[in-house]
Parts: sequence; C-alpha cells; structure tokens
Amino acid sequence: ESIRVFASATVANVACGFDILGFAVNAPGDEVILKKKNTPGVTISQITGDGGRLSLNSQENTVGVAVLQYLNKIGSDQGIDITLHKKMPFGSGLGSSAASAVAGAFAINELLGGSLSTEELLPFAIEGERIACGSAHADNVAPSLFGGFVLIRSYQPLDVVRINTPPELYCAIIHPQIEVPTKEARNILKKNIRMEDAITQWGNVAGLIAGLMQSDYALIGRSLQDVIVEPVRSILIPGFEKVKQASLQTGALGCGISGSGPSIFSLCRGQETAVQVGKAKQQIFEQLGIGCEVYTSQI
Ligand code: HSE
Repeated sequence: ESIRVFASATVANVACGFDILGFAVNAPGDEVILKKKNTPGVTISQITGDGGRLSLNSQENTVGVAVLQYLNKIGSDQGIDITLHKKMPFGSGLGSSAASAVAGAFAINELLGGSLSTEELLPFAIEGERIACGSAHADNVAPSLFGGFVLIRSYQPLDVVRINTPPELYCAIIHPQIEVPTKEARNILKKNIRMEDAITQWGNVAGLIAGLMQSDYALIGRSLQDVIVEPVRSILIPGFEKVKQASLQTGALGCGISGSGPSIFSLCRGQETAVQVGKAKQQIFEQLGIGCEVYTSQI
C-alpha cells in the first residue's frame, strides 16, 4: 500500500509580515511517496533532485521528521519507507524544506486512514521545518498545507487564519541561481527594532490584510513594504533594487524578497501583467550574468 503526495512552494513573509504571512503557489513543489512496510521504523530509500545533499537518515530529514512525529503522536509502530523527489531548488526562499515536510505529514495521515484533520497536521510539518532551518516558523508550512494566503496570528498557542484573496491576484517569482541558507539569513537580522519602524510595519501588515479582503489592489500595493527585514537581507541579493524597480515599472502592485531569499516575488493584478513582470525581472538577472527561473501563479 502506498501514496504519492505533492506539496507546493510558498512565498513567506510577503514583504511586511516576517514569520506571520505566506501564500502558496501552483508550482514548483516537492513529491513524496510513502509505502507501508512489514518491518517497523521509518526509512528513506531514495531522494532525487537534491544532488546528494540531503540526509537519508529519517531523523535528520524534514520529511522523515514529520512522518516520525506523526507516528509517535498517534502511537503507531507502522513501518514506512519514503521516497522524496525534490523538484525545487534549495536555499531559494520558496519553502523547499517546508514543502517536503507538508507532503510527508499529509501523506502519512492519508495512508493510515486520515484520522487527523488538516489543521492537526500542522505541528508535524513545523517540526520538519525546525530540523531544516533551526527555527520552527510556520509561514511556509501553513500555506503549503492549507493552500491560499495564510496568517499565523500566534505561535503559542498556534492560531492560523486563512485570508481570502481577490480573484485577479497573481504572483511572478524570479529565482536567481544563488543560494541563501535560511539559517544565515535569519542570523544577520537585528534583534531590536525602532518604534518608528514597527509602526510603519504593522500599518503595512494591517493594510495588506485589509486590501486582500476588500479586493483593493491599490491598497495591497501600498502595503507591500518591509522597512525591517528587507533593508538587511537585500544586500545578499545582487540586483535586488533593479529587479524591484523593473517590476514596479512593468505594472506590479508591489515586490519583495520571497522568504529568506534570494527569490523575489511580485504581486500583480491579472495574469498578463504577471507574465510581463516575470520577463522584466528575468532580463535584469540575464544582464548580470546570473541564471534564473521564473514562476507565475494565481494566488
Ligand atoms: N519567515 C522565514 C524567514 C521564512 O524569513 O526567515 C524562510 O523560511
């Protein structure tokens, strides 16, 4: 008996919402296959697409940890073998480790009869994320698990709110082929922020949520500003300011770093604008001699 599950990439932070906002995209994503086996224990027999970099030890692998935590919680000693097909780049800011963890948690629940709700699976995926990044943030795992746009209102206790989005909201993401490990991108952040910046930031978070819920595209655009994290992290991304300018000039509502980078997302009204924005961003990296991929998706 086996199951195959796909979990999609995500854009975390969404400019102003560091560690509390994220949304899912259609592609890329990771695929996980779980098979029941007759001997107890969780094994990983195959990983593809990782260039040999991920551990085959289930306790050191984001998908393995999610499955182990689940089995532990429900008190099952069912043996499981895992195959993981990584279909998106590492250190890209697209929630690669989160997608694997979510696919693992979802797959094991379905394979064993689906006794837990989707909401109840979130803690297992978060534990998988902790192994990969050293931090149990949920702004990638929650949107990958639920789909759509998600707010993590609180971590303790966990309180996750799904946010409606306007019908014509699209996203254009560019992934330049450089790696920014999340751990490092978190370590360089300031531990204290100025009150002035905090006020600007929470105004933007509230504005973004209001804009999404009221389908006010202009308000969404005005609110896509990050005065706390982006000024520090953008120095790790060559051409960031140029990409941002090109994106806005081509009609994007707003633009920011996807997760911990180096991918850069732009929100757009309409698919055609998103496609044009993707092309404009691609040109900048081509001029810089940096290879890149573009993904566009409805949100
Ligand atoms: N919120 C996280 C960060 C997302 O920006 O560090 C990356 O995993």
